[in-house]
Amino acid sequence: MYQSGEKLAAATNLILHRTGQKEIQEGITVIVKGEGVWVYDQDGTQYLDMDSGVTRPVHAGYGREELARAAYDQMCQLAYFTPMQFANVPAIKLSEKLAQIAPGEINNFTFECDGSEAVETAMKLARHYHYYRGDKARFKIISRRGAYHGVNGIGIRALGTVMPMRQMMEPLTPGSVFIESPYCYRCPCNLKYPECEIACARDLSRIIEFEGPEYISVFIGEPIQQGFGAFKPPKEYWQIIREICDKYGILLIMDEVICGFGRTGKMFATEHFNIQPDLITMAKGITSGYVPLGAVGCTGKVLEPIDIFNHLHTYGNHPVPCAVGLENIDIIIREKLVENSAEMGKYFLEALKPLEQHPSVGEVRGTGLWLAVDFTMDKKTRAPYPVANLLNMVARAKQKGAIIKMMGMALEFAPPLIIKKEEIDLAVKVIEQCITEEEKALNLT
Ligand SMILES: Cc1ncc(COP(=O)(O)O)c(C=O)c1O
Repeated sequence: MYQSGEKLAAATNLILHRTGQKEIQEGITVIVKGEGVWVYDQDGTQYLDMDSGVTRPVHAGYGREELARAAYDQMCQLAYFTPMQFANVPAIKLSEKLAQIAPGEINNFTFECDGSEAVETAMKLARHYHYYRGDKARFKIISRRGAYHGVNGIGIRALGTVMPMRQMMEPLTPGSVFIESPYCYRCPCNLKYPECEIACARDLSRIIEFEGPEYISVFIGEPIQQGFGAFKPPKEYWQIIREICDKYGILLIMDEVICGFGRTGKMFATEHFNIQPDLITMAKGITSGYVPLGAVGCTGKVLEPIDIFNHLHTYGNHPVPCAVGLENIDIIIREKLVENSAEMGKYFLEALKPLEQHPSVGEVRGTGLWLAVDFTMDKKTRAPYPVANLLNMVARAKQKGAIIKMMGMALEFAPPLIIKKEEIDLAVKVIEQCITEEEKALNLT
């Protein structure tokens, strides 16, 4: 067992993701145990996990023996078999379960290892749809500046403004096309809702005409967006995008990798907008992070022209994560975690709202148990807030026993969906202390 962060820094052979040398030299915390909404490090220090493992998958909370048993039982029964020309029982059952809960006519599913692969596969399925229909030139993908769709080949080109990740991989795949994001707090078009008439969505038509509709395969977007901190677009936004996609024969992928499985107070965030996507991507909450799994769902319309889906992953439709996914969805439904997300999310939002009185807090927002506090150096102009000060607050919160994260110019919260009021109260207290201390350091009053 590692005794201290220092020892890990000196001895580690492990390559960490998005972690600087300075942080490594200062010592990396090793998390060794989790229970409910709490995690424990190598020294026994406990932390309230307000971001479900930081990348936010742990919907059902830590220490669920049912999920471990589902994996164990399936490994004993059948650990693996190919997804090509054979099927397995957990994958069949999970696709049936997802067909019951996914938005509208999304009835067909295939399983991958994570969200990035799900995004790649969705884009590939879309390309197959057009190709088999004779639209062989449709290769371009439209996404939004500020989007995040993963780290792999095609998906990475749909990265918007997660800049260091994207810039280091440039030049990106040809055919990457962007429109602006519906980030109303700092509108990229310098307009104001509702007088703007959702110009950021309507601009899609102009971009399609400019790029040539006959070359465009899909539009991909997160129903509620991560990039600026849990940003829900105006209610008309997705209907406008859907109508424009329909007009030009472009498929619409809703990327539910974060939003799915109750995060926003609905089983899928698409349900907030009353539209029918052609494809959806899922991961994270599908297994509560206990084992890796991603999924793509599509309508019969997408699948109908495709003779063979020319795709093969060794770990596609893997029976073990599918068995865990099934048990996890049962827990989400049985324990009413979607309802808890809506109810506790409302409570959390109301508790955070008074923070808007602080000089540095521009906006508090949230949908279900996905919330954000967006900061500014000047409320009138909504001037940018330095990343360094956000990172200071994340570090302060850790010292006070809470794990939180930053996103854009915001602090973001996405706790396990089992969280209770007392734990939210505790978190709000820590968050307020961190804001007050950072404002003092910045001389903001
Ligand atoms: C919307 C969205 N799509 C795709 C991904 C990539 O998923 P993964 O990290 O599982 O590869 C993420 C990850 O945060 C995401 O938020």
